[in-house]
Amino acid sequence: MSHAYLLGLDIGTSGTKALLIDETGAILTTHTQEYPLAIPQPGWAEQDPADWWQASLVCIRRVLETSGVSADTIRGLSLSGQMHGLVALDASHEPIRPAILWCDQRTGAQCEQVISAAGGLDSLLGKTNNTMLTGYTGGKLLWMREHEPQLFARMRVFLNPKDYILYKLTGELSTEVSDASGTGLFDVANRRWHDGLIDALGLERSLFPRCLESGQVAGKVTAGIAAQCGLPAGLPVVAGGGDAVIQTTGMGLVAPGIVGVVLGTSGVVAMGLDRFAPNPGGKLQVFCGNAPDLWHAMGVTLAAGGSYRWYRDTFCGDEAAQAAATQRNVYDLMGEAATRSKPGAGNLIFLPYLQGERCPYPDPNARGAFVGLTLGHTKGDITRAVMEGISCSLKQVGDLLLSLLPGVSAQYVIASGGGAASPLWRQILADLFQRQVRTLAGSGEGGAYSAALLAGVGVGVYPTLADAMGLLRAESETDPIAANRGVYEEILGIYTDLYGQLSPAFARMGG
Ligand code: XUL
Repeated sequence: MSHAYLLGLDIGTSGTKALLIDETGAILTTHTQEYPLAIPQPGWAEQDPADWWQASLVCIRRVLETSGVSADTIRGLSLSGQMHGLVALDASHEPIRPAILWCDQRTGAQCEQVISAAGGLDSLLGKTNNTMLTGYTGGKLLWMREHEPQLFARMRVFLNPKDYILYKLTGELSTEVSDASGTGLFDVANRRWHDGLIDALGLERSLFPRCLESGQVAGKVTAGIAAQCGLPAGLPVVAGGGDAVIQTTGMGLVAPGIVGVVLGTSGVVAMGLDRFAPNPGGKLQVFCGNAPDLWHAMGVTLAAGGSYRWYRDTFCGDEAAQAAATQRNVYDLMGEAATRSKPGAGNLIFLPYLQGERCPYPDPNARGAFVGLTLGHTKGDITRAVMEGISCSLKQVGDLLLSLLPGVSAQYVIASGGGAASPLWRQILADLFQRQVRTLAGSGEGGAYSAALLAGVGVGVYPTLADAMGLLRAESETDPIAANRGVYEEILGIYTDLYGQLSPAFARMGG
């Protein structure tokens, strides 16, 4: 039987991943290439789009080489990517400046301007169903116009990160509904740009790329690029999705009732919606989903895996050296130490607001903290406190999500992303959410796996998204431990109080 292979590409914040599956959904091979994140000022975050492109070429070549699959049996490619990033392109479609990323917090004043130009928050919600958060692309456009007018004047079109890679592969300038939702200038109910709002902000409509549905073919790999990376010329490239949305699509969350938790650089708590839902007060992000009849509600804590990675890089040099010497994974060693600590980490609490916060506290000035340190605390306690603090933030977002979606309850949690590979982390989540936590095969692979499945939908290997979702297989189930419930309720209560108690200090430090 001749196989059909599908390629997924995820343009993440810590790196790009390419992943190849066969039509049964089995993963043949993956390759990841990391790149740096620039923090030019506290609270700012930028990356060079050239790094994403170089990493994409390397990853595609490597998966083709290591899989041994003949390129002409690949039927389609699709993309997932970090959302909201502003990639400003000039008349020759070259980036004018480094991309300003989703976790960048510089646009507080511009967000206020958007809300007031729209006629207030309720009026903005009536147009886009979302408030303008500092991470969104819309505020970044206004920031550039105000602070870099000469560069802004050269901009002819902007794209989000994965769409820039789609452009490099195909020569087509386009985005799709899930990433477009995350600009904050998109009419999410009707799945099109909000021309009236764009006008009210004095932005040229021509800056906005054409917008497709996620499963549409956006273009074909050009002959020149095919020669560079080994893909067949003319390979269809399916539009794909913003990572926070497509990752949950790829967890099968296409109707309410299951909470999805993605423990990536950011922490996403999400629910799939089979119809449009309003977003009272703009407290959540309610975006278009990856099929024309799907929407998606979520809240995002900005530094989830990002906090854990920062902790690894800053404090766990010994573990990294030991891991290198014994050919082990540094996160496994850190997890083993944390397992020797107890639930509650000896009353040590970590607040993960290392890059400000978005949900449940939309506060660019929020800062990280360890509270409760004593001479008795061990490295294992501190590592566990980092995992628990991030999990408390996810639980708060989950509670908010359920409180704002009337009539919706959660039967269980599906977890994915790098953090979900840790059995301890899954247990902490199960204990905090008081629900079974499940993982699916491929779920550690992030958006790249979902993108490969969506490529299959887009090119007709799977007749519908539901058929592709039928390929998902359970991998693990973690039940809450009854004896841990009281400890975690107590820890979550203290954790929740701490933000209120510390926010005046955060405002003074960040202001
Ligand atoms: C979603 C968001 C993050 C980034 C991270 O709104 O900001 O999940 O997409 O990749």
